[in-house]
Amino acid sequence: MEKTFLMIKPDGVQRGLIGKLVQRFEDKGFQLIGSKLMVITKEQAETHYAEHKEKPFFGELVQFITSGPVFAMVWQGDNVIALSRAMMGKTNPLDAAPGTIRGDYAVHTGNNIIHGSDSPESAEREISNFFKAGELLAYDRALQSWI
Ligand code: TYD
Ligand code: MG
Repeated sequence: MEKTFLMIKPDGVQRGLIGKLVQRFEDKGFQLIGSKLMVITKEQAETHYAEHKEKPFFGELVQFITSGPVFAMVWQGDNVIALSRAMMGKTNPLDAAPGTIRGDYAVHTGNNIIHGSDSPESAEREISNFFKAGELLAYDRALQSWI
């Protein structure tokens, strides 16, 4: 089953959006198989955003993502990577359609509420940056056969 790494960023945690955002992914039909509230280290942040190392916003991005607790999650389901990216909306909230998470809750690109893996390779790398194998749990979910 496909897995993805989703993370509610410090702005989402501080605005009290954890419950609402988790609800969206449960309502869609995905299964939460691991989660934790954590303050990520500078090293974890730099590894997580390594592809952006040369970008002018890299320093601010690392500063922001380590500035307070994030809610790190692993979700599972068919096409969960692409579907959760669609549910998040475009990176810049100016381009994010209403109805998407960023379209509904975010104003600025730098504080856009949520992260989601963009490919199977990123998902695997990102999950292992934040979770140990024993922290991911398999369990049956009611109505699983319908989705
Ligand atoms: P990116 O991987 O391009 O977006 P996404 O989160 O949709 O995969 O960028 C990572 C994060 O970096 C993005 O969520 C917010 C921040 N960022 C900026 O602060 N300024 C920018 O111009 C861009 C492109 C991203
Ligand atoms: Mg990205």
